Amino acid sequence: MQGLAWSLSLVLMAGVALIFLRVVAGASQPGGDAGTIAAAGYRWRDRLFWVVIVAGVAISFATLRKWPIPGHAAAAATPDVIVRAVGHQWRWELDRDTVRPGELVEFEVTSADVNHGFAIYRPEKSRILAQAQAMPGYTNKLQVRFDEPGDYEVLCLEYCGLAHHAMRAVIKVRADS
Ligand code: CUA
Repeated sequence: MQGLAWSLSLVLMAGVALIFLRVVAGASQPGGDAGTIAAAGYRWRDRLFWVVIVAGVAISFATLRKWPIPGHAAAAATPDVIVRAVGHQWRWELDRDTVRPGELVEFEVTSADVNHGFAIYRPEKSRILAQAQAMPGYTNKLQVRFDEPGDYEVLCLEYCGLAHHAMRAVIKVRADS
């Protein structure tokens, strides 16, 4: 589904770019005396235009080539543990909250009401380790391997109402669990 959306976006963007190029090509043909005076300026403008286009395509290709987000390709692996995570206004419901370091944990993320953002933070410095959207009617799979033991905080990344900030859970990663 994401692949389809991506392909469709590319085709539409190409269409818009073609129309844009046609308009620019039509507009850059100067007529009359004023045109001859301005011709040199137009030439430079046209060159600059192509430099911007080529640079834009090159930068987009270099940065978007790895789409979808790294990690999705690995999501086909068979998980060791499956944890169902359901977002509610305003709490997280996890059917288990303790896993072992090193095992491949698959979170099946969904929501019972509105959209939430399921985000797992590393114990140190509260950096995000992984995140997925919690959507009503959909289950998004998120595979995570916790390398270090510790308490990993789960917070909500999408504003979902008054007590959005209170949506907090903890995943305990324990070697002896
Ligand atoms: Cu749930 Cu914000």
